[in-house]
Amino acid sequence: MIRLEGITKSFAGKEGAVAALDGIDLTIARGEIFGIIGSSGAGKSTLVRLINLLERPDGGEVFVGGERVTDARGQRLRALRRSIGMVFQHFNLLSARTVAGNVAYPLELTGAYGRNEIAVRVAALLDRVGLSEHARKYPRQLSGGQKQRVGIARALACEPAVLLCDEATSALDPQTTGAVLDLLRQINRDLGVTVALITHEMDVIRRACDRVAVLDRGRVVEEGPVTRVFLHPRHAATLRLVREAEPDGGSLDAAAASDLGGRAVRLTFTGPAAHKPILGRIARENLVDYAILAGRVGHIRETPYAQFIVSLSGRDVAGAIAGLRASGVDVELQGVAPVPEIEERACHVV
Ligand SMILES: Nc1ncnc2c1ncn2[C@@H]1O[C@H](COP(=O)(O)OP(=O)(O)O)[C@@H](O)[C@H]1O
Ligand SMILES: [Mg+2]
Repeated sequence: MIRLEGITKSFAGKEGAVAALDGIDLTIARGEIFGIIGSSGAGKSTLVRLINLLERPDGGEVFVGGERVTDARGQRLRALRRSIGMVFQHFNLLSARTVAGNVAYPLELTGAYGRNEIAVRVAALLDRVGLSEHARKYPRQLSGGQKQRVGIARALACEPAVLLCDEATSALDPQTTGAVLDLLRQINRDLGVTVALITHEMDVIRRACDRVAVLDRGRVVEEGPVTRVFLHPRHAATLRLVREAEPDGGSLDAAAASDLGGRAVRLTFTGPAAHKPILGRIARENLVDYAILAGRVGHIRETPYAQFIVSLSGRDVAGAIAGLRASGVDVELQGVAPVPEIEERACHVV
């Protein structure tokens, strides 16, 4: 749906040009919810402005719906912009217009619809975002979450193929954030709209996205399915963002370093395995004890996960590791280079 190839973009700074984007290759598939995460200054908003063609790249190409749009102009540019709905952090509503008036605005701008048709469309849009009863209110009479629902209805007015959300939930409390993300997912499901969610919060990615790209200093440093990136981050920038989302930031790694004499392993249970009493059974069968050093449990979208760092000790640690793997648990040895299992077994004195 959206493809960026070798995108570079610099801005003039006090000490010469500053590279905001430094060779971005990215593909967002039709119909998915794609997350772009990065800390402040990583280049996220610049990327958004390039996708909706508010800004031109210094180098590289932008494709939307298979079409090269890097230097689209005039009529074509306007049509392209209409096919990309924007949702903003601070809502950007017109304070002098009612809720219905805000949603009608982009339809009025096209000049393509009569009064009645606009009214019908606006009513349907407000129904979709759950604001039918608030149509005649003004933005100042709404909560933050309601304002963002207006923003979403407005973004959908011209039936875009893509919804670009730049920090759309960053001004909202956690509960409202959840409700707005649920709404975006519902819209994605019902209308098939491709959604790009730009955020600095890993929780937003965890709750809403299919895939994610991690942006760090103008580069994509990591990309993949959210389950993989969230549970097994590879790049330091990703690890930082994951830790920020943890209640006790960083405990997983600190624990890895403080191996208590046993074999420290990181166990990841996902899906049905997260709810099964696998660890106790395997420990009993192999006469192994375990100390839990760190852990986190939760959901990635609907998928439950549990991840622990445990120190295994006792009779048959290698057997326990093999048993865990056979039960669908992902096992990563911590703090040492992986040792071939054969050797480990051979060391056992029974
Ligand atoms: N119009 C601009 N003029 C100068 N520098 C800019 C401009 N827009 C962005 N930058 C710089 O580009 C980098 C990335 O900014 P931005 O895309 O806003 O990051 P993010 O949205 O991830 O916080 C920053 O260093 C920022 O200062
Ligand atoms: Mg930004």
